[in-house]
Amino acid sequence: MTIAAKIEQTISKSSWIRKMFEEGTRLKAQYGSDNVFDFSIGNPNLPPPEAFQNALEIVAKQKEKWAHAYMANSGFAFVREYVAEKVRTEQAGKTGKQTEGSGNRTEVTGKQTENTGNQTESTCNQTDGTANITADDIVMTCGAAGGLNVVFKALLNHGEEVLVSSPFFVEYTFYADNHGGVLKTVKSKQDFSLDLTAIEEAINPKTRIMLINSPNNPTGQIYSESSLKALGELLKKKSQEYGAIIYLVSDEPYRKIVFDDVDVPSVFTCYDQTIVATSHSKDLSLPGERIGYLAINPKAEYREKLRQALSLTNRILGFVNAPAMMQRVLPLLDGASVDINAYRRKRDIFCEGLANAGYSFTIPPGAFYLFPQSPIEDDVKFVKALQEELILAVPGSGFGDPGHFRLAFCVEDETIRKSMPAFKRVMERFS
Ligand SMILES: Cc1ncc(COP(=O)(O)O)c(C=O)c1O
Repeated sequence: MTIAAKIEQTISKSSWIRKMFEEGTRLKAQYGSDNVFDFSIGNPNLPPPEAFQNALEIVAKQKEKWAHAYMANSGFAFVREYVAEKVRTEQAGKTGKQTEGSGNRTEVTGKQTENTGNQTESTCNQTDGTANITADDIVMTCGAAGGLNVVFKALLNHGEEVLVSSPFFVEYTFYADNHGGVLKTVKSKQDFSLDLTAIEEAINPKTRIMLINSPNNPTGQIYSESSLKALGELLKKKSQEYGAIIYLVSDEPYRKIVFDDVDVPSVFTCYDQTIVATSHSKDLSLPGERIGYLAINPKAEYREKLRQALSLTNRILGFVNAPAMMQRVLPLLDGASVDINAYRRKRDIFCEGLANAGYSFTIPPGAFYLFPQSPIEDDVKFVKALQEELILAVPGSGFGDPGHFRLAFCVEDETIRKSMPAFKRVMERFS
């Protein structure tokens, strides 16, 4: 054995996304990349906003002393001030109408469409939740992945559990394990909203973190304000019952990628013991630049301890601090993002085509993934059939939810359009 047994095992299991990536490379070499419809990976195909290029040039020309030096582990103070201001607005509770349950999404079953949307009055309208957030509540991180590792390292004792609703972003399993934790999953409801009864049953004295991801990868679901409020009440009750805080960690890299005027509710106003982990990998199309941040709810009971812990774990995990140049770029962008309308257009082209081909799915209100039902029970077999038509998708099993498959639509419009006859042929084979 030349490497650690656990890593040896993990390599041999290799994630589905990775497998499809490798398969894609092989197929593209064989058939030419234009003839392969690769929907396997969430690598944003839109360019970063123009403001990014300008900001990068400005920052590159700055000759300030210490511009590229070590800094406070949580990041430059002026950058954290800028981020704190953005979080203050983003996490302020809203008083208007919010989506509820399956929100204003539309179920598409085969060729029929049925609107299941219903709206309810917001139940969670405090606006004081974020007023006190300061630069000290922000830790700049190497992406959301880096941020989640920093949080897990700071919060988890050996054997403690991170609870997540499935389907889920599979890397969470490794992040929990990296820090002696264990990822536990609980199935979401049919419409991919939180199943609070099942969550209550799954919480136990070892539960240390409830992890949520909204808008969600792989479903595109956005959790409603009322369900987050109910989740907050539940976590509070359980924390009191067990005499230990259960933290809510909210992974939000897709917060800005939302369609049809749907809001992503604030988590800070729904539960005090909350930490947000996010990044600009998706909203600025900068996944390679590894820039993100953590934000501590200013109402968290051990706010100061959390600040110290997150800053320390950022350092001792070897990140030390988030990349200096990327930090300096952010305030110059002033909240810019990629063209969200382009993702909405791609979603609509894809949904229309899949519905016409007879697929059943829920129209995603956010992120850039579709998670249709596999027409046969065996999602792996179905994905293999798609592959024979040169379509690359990821089986739902790879996200802890067999019976579905994931399609990432951060690709050219043309790729989606050209793939439709192939999708149709595969459906015809199984129906
Ligand atoms: C739900 C979710 N969380 C976290 C990440 C990691 O993002 P980052 O590139 O910011 O580390 C991803 C990346 O795809 C994701 O989909």
